Formats: sequence, structure tokens, C-alpha cells
Amino acid sequence: MAGNRGVAYIEPGKVEVQSIDYPGLELKDGPGVNPANVGRTLEHGVVLKVVTSNICGSDQHMVRGRTTAPPNLVLGHEILGEVVEKGRDVEFIEVGDLCSVPFNIACGRCRNCKEGKTGICLNVNPARPGAAYGYVDMGGWVGGQAEYVTIPYADWNLLRFPDKDQAMEKVLDLTMLSDIFPTGFHGAVTAGVKPGSTVYVAGAGPVGLAAAVGAQLLGASVVVVADLNEERLAQARSFGCETVDVSKGSPQDQLEQLLGVPEVDAAVDAVGFEARGHGADAGEAPATVLNSLMEVTAAGGAIGIPGLYVTGDPGGIDEAAKVGALSLSLGTGWAKSISFTTGQCPVMRYNLGLMKAILADKVQIAKAVNATVISLDDAPQGYADFDRGAAQKYVIDPHGSVRR
Ligand SMILES: NC(=O)c1ccc[n+]([C@@H]2O[C@H](COP(=O)([O-])OP(=O)(O)OC[C@H]3O[C@@H](n4cnc5c(N)ncnc54)[C@H](O)[C@@H]3O)[C@@H](O)[C@H]2O)c1
Ligand SMILES: [Zn+2]
Ligand SMILES: [Zn+2]
Repeated sequence: MAGNRGVAYIEPGKVEVQSIDYPGLELKDGPGVNPANVGRTLEHGVVLKVVTSNICGSDQHMVRGRTTAPPNLVLGHEILGEVVEKGRDVEFIEVGDLCSVPFNIACGRCRNCKEGKTGICLNVNPARPGAAYGYVDMGGWVGGQAEYVTIPYADWNLLRFPDKDQAMEKVLDLTMLSDIFPTGFHGAVTAGVKPGSTVYVAGAGPVGLAAAVGAQLLGASVVVVADLNEERLAQARSFGCETVDVSKGSPQDQLEQLLGVPEVDAAVDAVGFEARGHGADAGEAPATVLNSLMEVTAAGGAIGIPGLYVTGDPGGIDEAAKVGALSLSLGTGWAKSISFTTGQCPVMRYNLGLMKAILADKVQIAKAVNATVISLDDAPQGYADFDRGAAQKYVIDPHGSVRR
């Protein structure tokens, strides 16, 4: 039997490539695994040979020690791979299929899955609704920044590419379908972006850039991307976005210069709870983005919030932040009748359509986020560079399938 290696979280600031078990069709005990999940058989699942698995800002929250992630948790929820083994109950996915894996693990059988709310499946995590591969509080499913990984409910979860050779030619675009492209697009959709909309996207990390691409696909007239990282703002300008540098202060003045008014029709929070305050040398201020989006969104508008907010943050700036409680000016949002959408993106709602847009050359998501291929052994360096704010989206290629 083949061995397996994966990227494990060790302690704040440290990940390591470890030898791990070759995955099978049964849930074993391990870091973060809920006892009620141990021993579950997965005859509806497959084992994938991982072709690509991307590093995400969501992983960084764990690696920075800003969550309660347990040591030795194998990371990786953004997975694309080839089926090498399938369980007895898998009917329509075949060995050899090349597939994208939505980062949400969903059963396809519960009430929420039936309603398309696959980010809050009721049957995959005994602790709370919703699960993901390699993620804290998400059921303890082993992550895919590894050579091999198990995917449950394969007929339901996997998006098979119609042509393997064509898919390998566009693999750096298609690898974004497991999370950031649908997530960014969902941010734009739930912000109500329509043809002609003006849009403000807070955060020029990969999710913010994907939200900007999503807003462009939806027909936005102007997409303004904000960050305090100049290299990332330049990346946003490279595909036609305007930019705002929040280290120069609150965005209103800069928006007024760009748009003639200090507000936008739609706004996306692609930052989350580790948000920095506005202005030079501002420290962490977790409610900054949510509060400023309520200010810059026109009355009656909507805010899409893919940015992650947690219920436990050992590094929170105060006692309230340590339990995920933020000081929101909700009155501003109320007075302006603003709507909000939070939570995991239900990837399955968008991945097929976005795949077709990629395969038909209608969108260049890999270029927009500056996809950069690295080996499994280079993953710790990729984490460090991404943490420093590199304007790159790191794509781990554990078998050299892409570099070949
Ligand atoms: N909802 C979902 O399903 C989902 C999926 C993927 C990622 N996420 C979350 O989306 C967020 C973004 O992910 P990413 O990979 O792009 O992360 P990232 O850390 O690479 O990017 C965040 C960016 O926000 C910038 N920033 C900080 N404070 C800011 C402010 N006040 N205004 C503007 N920009 C500011 C940072 O400089 C950084 O460039 C994370 O919180 C991640 O966990 C959510
Ligand atoms: Zn992700
Ligand atoms: Zn379900």
C-alpha cells in the first residue's frame, strides 16, 4: 500500500510535513476528531490522489494560533484530485475521474443539504452544523494538503471534470473551485451585485480578489478593492480594479475621489476577525471592516461576509473578542436597512457554473489571484510567505502532477 504525507499544524507559527496514515473508508480517531465520528464507515466515499491543494487565509487563522486547532491536525480544505479507490456505495463516480472537492463536507441527505445549504450539513459534524477537511471545530476530517485524502459522500460532493486533459491544462484555474472562487463569487452575489453596481471589497487576499472577479462577472461598473498591503492592491489593479489603501484612513474620502460619492451599492468583507484598523500603524480592530462596510454601503444595500468570524480566539484583543463578541454599530446597519449574509460559502451552488466559465475561457481566476505552484515539502515556506502578505495564492502539488 502507498504511504502518505501531509501538512500538519504543530503550534502557533509552525506547520510540518509529516508521515500520516494512508486514508481509508472508515473514520479513525485523530486530532480534533469528535468521538461520535470515530468508526463511521464511508462506503459512500472515495480515496483521492491529490493533484492540487491550496493554502487559504482560513488555514492561516489556525496557524497563527488564533483558533483552538489541536496540534497535529492535518490541514487542507481546498482539494482537486483523481479517484484511486471507491467505496461499495459509490455509483456514479469512477476510479480515474479527476474532480474538484467542495471544501464543505455535506451528506446530501439532511434537510439543509436538500435545501442547498451544504455549509451547514447536519450529519457530518456531531458538534455543530457544517464540516470541512482539515479544519478546527469542523468534525476532525483529515485535510488534503497531503498525497492522498478520503472524500465522503462522493457522488454528492465531487464535481467531475468532463475532460481530464483539458482540465489539467486549466488546473490552476480549476483548483480555485474548491473554495475561493465560489466563496468570492458568493460574497458578490449576496452583496447584491448586479450589472452596473459599484462594489467595495475589503481585503485583497485571494478571497477578496476572487470576490472582485466575481463582481466583474456579474457586471459591476466599478470594483474597488481595499487593503493596507500595497503589493496586494497592485495585484487587484492588474485585472481592472480600482483600489483604496486603508492605511491612509477610512475609505470614504478615497471612494468619493473614485466614484464622486462616498458610498457603493454593494460591499464584501473578505477580511474577517483579524481585521486591522484604518489609518497608519493601526493595530488589530476586529469590528473595523463590518462597521465601515455599514457606513459605505448605500441605504437598502447588502453586505456579503465571507470573511471568517470565530466563537473562540485565544489571541483576541480583549475578553469579548476572545469569545468572538465584537463591538458592532448595528444601529447604522438597521437605520439603512442593510442586509447581511455570513457563513461558509455553499460551494456546490456555484462550482459547476464557474467551472464552465473557466473551461470556456470566460474568466482568468488563477491569473487574478497569482496562483503559484509549490511542492509538498515547500508548504511550510508557502505558509510563511503567505503569512507575510505575499500577493500569491499557493497551490501545493504533492505528486509533481502540475509541474510535470
Ligand atoms: N466564508 C467562507 O466560506 C470562507 C472561505 C474561504 C475563506 N474565508 C475567509 O475569508 C477571509 C479572507 O481569506 P484570504 O485567503 O483572502 O485571507 P488573507 O488573510 O490572505 O487576506 C485578508 C486581507 O485582508 C487585509 N486586511 C486586514 N484588515 C483590513 C481592513 N481593515 N481593510 C481592508 N483589508 C484589510 C489583509 O492585509 C489581507 O491582505 C479569511 O477570513 C478567510 O478565513 C471564508
Ligand atoms: Zn479556503
Ligand atoms: Zn447534509
